[in-house]
Formats: sequence, structure tokens, C-alpha cells
Amino acid sequence: MPDKNRLRRAVLTGTGTYLPEKIVTNADMALQVDTSDDWITERTGIKQRHFAAPHETAAFMGAEAGRRALEAAGMAPEQLGAIIVGTSTPDQAFPSTAVHVQAALGATNAYGFDIAAACSGFIFGLSVADAMIRSGQVESVLVIGSEVYSRILNFADRGTCVLFGDGAGAVLLQARDVEKDGAGLLSTHLHSDGRLAEILYVDGAVGQPDKPGHLVMNGREVFRHAVTLLSGAVNEALAANSLTAADIDWLVPHQANKRIIDGVGKKLGLPPERVVVTVDKHANTSAASIPLALAAAVADGRIKPGQIVLLEALGGGLTWGSALLRL
Ligand code: COA
Repeated sequence: MPDKNRLRRAVLTGTGTYLPEKIVTNADMALQVDTSDDWITERTGIKQRHFAAPHETAAFMGAEAGRRALEAAGMAPEQLGAIIVGTSTPDQAFPSTAVHVQAALGATNAYGFDIAAACSGFIFGLSVADAMIRSGQVESVLVIGSEVYSRILNFADRGTCVLFGDGAGAVLLQARDVEKDGAGLLSTHLHSDGRLAEILYVDGAVGQPDKPGHLVMNGREVFRHAVTLLSGAVNEALAANSLTAADIDWLVPHQANKRIIDGVGKKLGLPPERVVVTVDKHANTSAASIPLALAAAVADGRIKPGQIVLLEALGGGLTWGSALLRL
């Protein structure tokens, strides 16, 4: 007889990151673009970003972050069940970034695929991984966000090129039978609204003749929607788990802009000491931003086992969503 008090959950057992070696400060940006450290800092909270060298592709960085997450969990690559990579900047249209990561890791028994949900890619990946684990299909999933936005930035557009950076973050999720109030992913909530596609997009793709594409954004419109939609997704997560903001130990938001992060924190009534912020160091790394921030706060001991962590993201699509987990 199965024990009714125990549940099969996806439990986070390891995190890992990779950041390109090259750091570009706001002062460095001001040498090539008509901008200033003051403007960027005041509007976004960004102080620097990492830009990838040619060999630092989404697959390369994703594999490095994934390797570190496996090592942190003490899992051999051959034991891994699946790999999901959230990316908008894959090495190739196909095969997926995830299978390149698989080969680099030697994860010979895993299957892999990519998720295209822009900056929400990691949350969407977590949600799919959670369903795969809960259904009993796999015992472990490496969920990675890996992005090289420096390759799609239009450096003639100062309104966007100063906002983004490159990097990768990974988490390992493993199936565990836990008590109801034990560790694991508690819920995920996903949304998209394709009617808002034109406020944040890439104006090209491999499917279009001679048009690899650059990122285009109506920053004001994105900002206008961000706090409302993110607060909605966060409240949905709380309601679904019969929790209030007071129960949340840490908010780990998508790192797009300090003003959006502060806006959501304020609406939730969370003090800034319980919000993880890395946008100053990494800028917006799209699907990589949440796992980079989460891993940083786990590594420096801020986020501890047993704590409740709320994740939220919004990106091109628009896509947005939240995930709630207990470490
Ligand atoms: N440096 C200096 N000046 C800049 C600049 C830069 N990098 N980028 C734009 N400006 C100028 C504009 O040209 C404009 O000048 P003008 O008034 O002389 O025309 C002025 O700053 C204001 O531009 P605007 O675009 O209206 O600024 P804003 O207050 O909306 O801030 C963003 C711009 C991008 C910082 C802001 O809209 C934002 O954060 N949006 C959300 C973006 C985001 O997070 N996207 C990702 C979501 S996943």
C-alpha cells in the first residue's frame, strides 16, 4: 500500500553556473555606445555583464554549468535521465543545444531537447521537468538556461544593447519520495500572450533568407506589463499552495532590471533582504538569469535546505510564469 503522506516530487539536488571570462563594465560600453554608467545604473541597476568569446556558445556554457550541477549532486553523467535547455540563442537550429550538452557531458542514457520561451525558458523548463518526474517517466532532469545574447544585440541601438549579457546556469532535479511538507517543486504556473509578440522579439531567424536577426524591444511597453503580470504569477503560486508572502524565504526573480525586481518585491511586501539580485553583475542573461541567481545564493549560503523559494520570469512572447520550491 502506498503511503498517502508521501509524494513523488522533483527535488533540487545540485546547482552549477558558467560565466564567460570577459567582463564588460558600463564604462567599457560607453566607449562604443552613446551611453553612461549613470544612465544604465539609474534605469536598470546593471553595472557590468559578461560577453562570450567565440568558443563560449550556448552548448559549451550549458555543458559547463550542467557538469558543475551534476558534481554538486554527486551524480555520474551516465545516471542522468534527461536534459532540458532553455535558450533563444542555440548553437544551431538543430540538433538541439541539449544534445550537444549530452555529448559533452557523456550523459549517454539521457534524452534532451530545447525550450524556446525567451527569458521565461528556465521556468518553462522546470515545469516540463517537474511533469516528467512526477509522471514517473524519468528519475532525474538537468534543467539549464544558457544564452549568448551578445550575438543578437544591435550595438547601434543603445536602448537595448546595454541591457543584456551572456552566461549559463543549471539545476539538477531528482525524483524523491518525500513528506507532504518536504523538499521539492511545489508548483509551476505558465502563461503566454502572442498578441504582445511585437514588443520584444528577434527580427530574423535561420528560417528567414539572409536574416539572422537582432533583438528589438519597446522597453516602455515591456516595463508596463512586467510588474503586473509577474505579480499575478507570483500570487497564483502563493494561492495554489495556501501560502502568503510571509512564508517565502527568498524571491529569486528573473534578472532583467532592478526597478522591475523592486516593483514585484514591493507589491508582494517582501523586504529587499529576501530578494536575490545579480542583475548588477550579470545584466539580463535571459533564460540563464534565474539559475545563475539561484546558484549564487545557494553557493554563498543565503538559501538553505528547507527554505521556500519563489521564482518568477517574463520574456519575449510575451511569456511569463512562476515556480515555487522547497530546498
Ligand atoms: N544610454 C543613454 N541614454 C539612453 C540609453 C542609453 N543606453 N538608452 C536610451 N536612452 C535615452 C533615449 O534615447 C531617450 O532619450 P530622449 O528622451 O532624448 O529621447 C531617453 O534615454 C529615455 O528613453 P526611454 O526608452 O524612454 O527610457 P526608459 O525610461 O523607458 O528606460 C529601459 C529604458 C529599457 C531601461 C526601460 O524601458 C526598461 O527597463 N524596460 C524594460 C526592459 C526589460 O527589462 N526588458 C527585458 C524583459 S525580459
